[in-house]
Amino acid sequence: MSATRDDELSFDEFDEEHYPRSKTTDFQTISTTVMSRRNFLGSSAKFGAAAFIMGTTSLSGLAGCGFLTKDFEEVEANSHDTITVPDGYQWHVVSMWGDPLWSNSLPFDPETRGTAESQALAVGDNNDGMSLFEENGTLILVSNNEYVNQGIIYGNRESKKPETDDDVRKGMAGHGITVAEITEQDGKWSIVKDSPYNRRITANSPMEITGPARGHAMMKTTADPSGVLALGTWNNCGNGQTPWGTYLTCEENFNGYFSSSDDAYQPSSELNRYGVGNKDWGYAWASVDDRFDISKNPNEPNRFGYVVEIDPLDPNSTPKKRTALGRFKHENAELVVAENGHVVVYLGDDERGEFLYRFISSEKYYEGENNRNLLENGTLYVAKFNDDGSGKWIALTPETTGMASQAEISILTRQAASSVGATTMDRPEWVAVNPNRAEAYLALTNNKNRGKKPNAGGDPTPVGGPNPRAENHYGQIVRWRPANQDHTSDEFSWDLFLVAGNPSVHNDDYAGSDNINTGNMFNSPDGLAFDDSGFLWIQTDGNYSDKDDFAGMGNNQMLIGDPVTGEIKRFMVGPKECEITGITWSPDRSTVFVGIQHPGEKGNSHFPQGGEAVPRSAIIAVSRDDGTALS
Ligand code: FEO
Ligand code: CA
Ligand code: CA
Repeated sequence: MSATRDDELSFDEFDEEHYPRSKTTDFQTISTTVMSRRNFLGSSAKFGAAAFIMGTTSLSGLAGCGFLTKDFEEVEANSHDTITVPDGYQWHVVSMWGDPLWSNSLPFDPETRGTAESQALAVGDNNDGMSLFEENGTLILVSNNEYVNQGIIYGNRESKKPETDDDVRKGMAGHGITVAEITEQDGKWSIVKDSPYNRRITANSPMEITGPARGHAMMKTTADPSGVLALGTWNNCGNGQTPWGTYLTCEENFNGYFSSSDDAYQPSSELNRYGVGNKDWGYAWASVDDRFDISKNPNEPNRFGYVVEIDPLDPNSTPKKRTALGRFKHENAELVVAENGHVVVYLGDDERGEFLYRFISSEKYYEGENNRNLLENGTLYVAKFNDDGSGKWIALTPETTGMASQAEISILTRQAASSVGATTMDRPEWVAVNPNRAEAYLALTNNKNRGKKPNAGGDPTPVGGPNPRAENHYGQIVRWRPANQDHTSDEFSWDLFLVAGNPSVHNDDYAGSDNINTGNMFNSPDGLAFDDSGFLWIQTDGNYSDKDDFAGMGNNQMLIGDPVTGEIKRFMVGPKECEITGITWSPDRSTVFVGIQHPGEKGNSHFPQGGEAVPRSAIIAVSRDDGTALS
């Protein structure tokens, strides 16, 4: 995330400043690990991404080998205020923040930037993860609207902040999910207004609480004394898609919307662990609804931080919060059906020093049967990586954690994971599962605190294993292979697919792994997805200053990686001050839909309309000039 709230602060930085966490770090442990890791790294020239721990030669039947070297000319890094794609490719805008979904919606007004009423009937702000669904030939694009750019949506206000109740409600309506039918005409994709599928889900839409936490005492509030119905979802970051036709949306920085009207209020340590405190991030939601005031409703934050399952084909369906998948700052939800039929979901918690999780369903998936409640019950695990390239999944149960119940583990998942000694990671972002083999990839975007500060729970963050550099501001991608090619195995082996860095500035570990060079370098990998051919698309949300440590990297971008050879090529560069996030393909694979989030978040973009236009987050369609399939 790189939204501005105290202008230049990231979400984590804001939390650290306003809610200082435990300062207790086991420096002895850290320095010991630093030393041994340095020795280990010193024995090999660099990380050597091609040096698989497990050997790669068994990759057979992989379609499209060689695609990367012959298929497109790598795009150069740049700081232009537009999209750059390779020669032979083209792009256009499919939808933008504020585009009307119905013919009675008001068109986007660049002067007022909309009202609560117009925003509720229009595409939300800051599109993030997305998936495409098909029913009888109709295509339905579902996309997250992670947060709102206050400096832009309140750009009509002197303060650039919400000044009226309607402003606050406009912000609430800009969050959530946009469901919209799309169609292609004359080579251009656009939204079909008034489609019966069109729907906005916002911070006020009713959601059923399911799974272990349903009805638990910690989930009960004045407005919902039974703890079974929450209102809304927000900060919906990455996503997932199930084989039974539903969409998964992931609640990430849910904490930044709560505040206290009583300055003297002391939030519990449980709230503190999740960054919930007396000050919000400027959204002012508590000014229109007391449920966001933690001094009055201390349990309300316990109802957020989940994965929510939505049926996009039924606009009247009630979304379901799947508490069995745990409560944390969820990034995405990568679902794979294991060979034994159990559903496995990989889940990252995006905060410095937090963890990687895995859910396994209790029941099995049977194609064509009713699989609708598979995410209701199961076991949640957390990952422990060993320095020798092995790792294991630790089940989070009352027995392993000492916690009272599965419900408590579902609500206080971070505390559960800390109690079993899981590996503190460099901000787990998206996970993507390779369609060609039992193997998963995780973007670890960056962590300036690595080796310096504990996580929010006081767990040390030693340098080593999949987090090999102190003060890591470039990020890396770790991958693991479950034992016996079985995603339900409790053992795995891992290596680093790439370690980002800047070889034009550094000649040590900060230069990155061998597959990073001055032609393809980037920082802060975030979005990850495999295409049908088994290539890994990598999206970035990093430092776009193009200066100092980041010189030569330009704007945020999208690259394609070959999991077999380790080759990485830059496919696209975004406009100024954007993040590239969210990706899905048309059924014929001739179009890839890509999310351009927060262009001009610091005031320096007019993307996509140009001229003096207000910058607007957008979903774009990229295709080959000749219209042939991309993957
Ligand atoms: Fe919403 Fe971790 O990115
Ligand atoms: Ca991000
Ligand atoms: Ca992200």
